[in-house]
Amino acid sequence: MTTKIIMDTDPGIDDAAALTMAINDPALDLKLVTAVAGNVTVDKTTANALKIVNFFKQDIPVAAGAKQPLIKPFEDAARIHGESGMPGYDFGDDYGEPIAKSAVEALHDEIMAADEPITLVPTGSYTNIALLFSQYPEVKDHIKEIVAMGGTLSKGNMTSAAEFNVFTDPHAAKIMYDSGVPIVMVGLDITLKALLTPDTLDKLATMGRAGEMLHDLITHYNDGDENGHPMHDVNTIFYLLHPEAITTEEMWVDVQTEGPAMGETVGDIRGAYHDGKTNAKVCVDIDTDYFNKWFLEEVSAIKD
Ligand code: RIB
Ligand code: CA
Repeated sequence: MTTKIIMDTDPGIDDAAALTMAINDPALDLKLVTAVAGNVTVDKTTANALKIVNFFKQDIPVAAGAKQPLIKPFEDAARIHGESGMPGYDFGDDYGEPIAKSAVEALHDEIMAADEPITLVPTGSYTNIALLFSQYPEVKDHIKEIVAMGGTLSKGNMTSAAEFNVFTDPHAAKIMYDSGVPIVMVGLDITLKALLTPDTLDKLATMGRAGEMLHDLITHYNDGDENGHPMHDVNTIFYLLHPEAITTEEMWVDVQTEGPAMGETVGDIRGAYHDGKTNAKVCVDIDTDYFNKWFLEEVSAIKD
């Protein structure tokens, strides 16, 4: 029994690793990839998504999405992911073209045509998701859940309060969190714990074509320290495949859309202010050793 998923993404080095797992794990059926402006501009995130899909010789449609947030000016993360968004590995120039449909149209059509509810996995800002829900609210009943990388109940990485994906488009994040669709918040609370260790990174280089590609990208990734690199987006896939390795707490999550805390995800941790209602399962702890072990098992299982 495979889980049908759609990834909405802004590759981005950790996005590239998440796409690698989503494409290659037999328990997942990746139906569509949509790109959004985030780590770098949407023309580059779209090209990078195509490079990964083409690297694995897959016939998965890639659609280009929003080139800027709903209201906020666009601010990229090229300082972390490089100007191209995926430096360090030569994917060549022949990696295909995006489909003609926009991301919103492709999302709508794929979700409504599916024979079972689909899982959305956004790993960039949520602009495409917000536009989809605004233009086609009927899709909400056809979505099983949203497993979203983003947010934090603790310290941010753009301000002390806000994480990049939510900070990039807080208005879109609020639309998504207020949508009524079940959400799993895969935030910095776990992604900054489950670091990819230097030992794991070294082993990647010995694991065939895919391992070499990921190794070369991650060695150019400016997020992390001597203890390792946070593979933020990969945690969404790890959650889908091994939820037992992650601890979650149900709560109402609200998003600040103005002021100095703009982009903050605020958890009603005592269930005191939303009549006991919740809109998210928030990931609060993770088995880091298991994450590293799983990461290597996933890559070593990929056939060249
Ligand atoms: O805060 C981490 C998130 O921002 C990740 O999705 C990373 O790829 C960047 O988009
Ligand atoms: Ca991302």
